[in-house]
Amino acid sequence: MTNQILITGCGTFIPPEVIDNETLVKAYNAHVKEHNQEYSEEIAVGDKTALKTSSADFIKNASGIEERRVMEASGIVDPRRLRPELKDRNPDELSYQAEMGLAAAKNALNQANKSASDVGMLISACSNYERPYPSLAIEVQEALGITGFAFDMNVACSSVPFAIRLAYNSLITQPELPGVLIISPEFYTGHLNFRDRDSHFIFGDAAGALYLERSETSKSNNTFFVKNIQLQTHFSNNIRNDGGFLRQAVNRTDPWHPRNLFSQHGRAVFKEIIPLVSEMILNQLEEEGIENSSVKRVWLHQANGKMNLLLAKKILAREPSPAELPLVLNKYGNTGAAGVVLAFSESQNLDQESWGVFCAFGAGYSAGSVLLQKC
Ligand SMILES: CC(C)(COP(=O)(O)OP(=O)(O)OC[C@H]1O[C@@H](n2cnc3c(N)ncnc32)[C@H](O)[C@@H]1OP(=O)(O)O)[C@@H](O)C(=O)NCCC(=O)NCCS
Repeated sequence: MTNQILITGCGTFIPPEVIDNETLVKAYNAHVKEHNQEYSEEIAVGDKTALKTSSADFIKNASGIEERRVMEASGIVDPRRLRPELKDRNPDELSYQAEMGLAAAKNALNQANKSASDVGMLISACSNYERPYPSLAIEVQEALGITGFAFDMNVACSSVPFAIRLAYNSLITQPELPGVLIISPEFYTGHLNFRDRDSHFIFGDAAGALYLERSETSKSNNTFFVKNIQLQTHFSNNIRNDGGFLRQAVNRTDPWHPRNLFSQHGRAVFKEIIPLVSEMILNQLEEEGIENSSVKRVWLHQANGKMNLLLAKKILAREPSPAELPLVLNKYGNTGAAGVVLAFSESQNLDQESWGVFCAFGAGYSAGSVLLQKC
């Protein structure tokens, strides 16, 4: 068992406020009505395009999402605002994402039976940061009282498998490192375009966290052996957010400018991601000599229920049972990099020595798959 690297703790933070599809659509459609009335003359002469209404049935059927948890609901469902309404916290207060990451981190450490002194390295792995610096991970390090070091990384929705690779390599090569904590605090509603019919329904807010350590130090009775990690990136503009620090320099200061917020060509992403991810996982299983029949769990990025079903069928070469393919996006929406951790957290009851695939994918394109075996 020397030098086996295990995931021994998993924790989440789910914000208490809920917005269901009907409420979200009502707010969006009120905005559409107001817009179309305000610009009725321009629309009549073809100078502006009338906006189309959204539909709760479309959202559920196309994505599988029924409701989402958010950090602040009242601003999002106000048709005149359509974005969260937050107090601008002072630099001496804990930032929003640090609060989310800290809560998930504490839960992961609890599950692992560990404390802050057992963390030598803390990685924040998510798609969006509320500021470029100081690093969010260092803020959480300070709040937890960790003496090692911490840093932020971003590989969009695939960030967690990439962070697992870093954690794994560090634990193998740095014997002085007691354990690695990964946090993924996703505050997606802060940069979601709630005026965009194609994407206003997609995201929710949540955080996930994982603790990794060597088998020798494990004090947890719920552990997963990290067997094989595959990572891939291929450039694509199909999921994009240009809301970076050059906004002002390039004179794109309108906060509602579509390029300053999330946008995607969802149908193209759906088609292109499925072969990329399924091939990567099938190669991974072949490399390890693991038959599909031995894979008992597929924890996937939570973007689209139909996409996950298609992926799972390809990976397992059979129809997955609901237990084999845990879906949480119906109640949480797409929670970015945190999504696969939320699915993992709610579905860890595997038989000893069973295999599971932990896989995330998204913008970049990027994809990462971690083969796990229940200890
Ligand atoms: C985003 C997604 C749910 C959209 O579903 P889709 O079936 O591809 O939908 P489309 O955008 O092709 O639109 C289909 C139709 O629904 C309509 N539509 C789009 N949004 C709508 C809405 N909110 N309400 C009602 N109708 C809507 C479109 O106008 C289109 O109508 P048409 O056929 O008359 O032209 C889906 O493409 C998806 O989840 N893709 C994967 C995305 C992904 O994994 N991203 C990773 C990001 S982390």
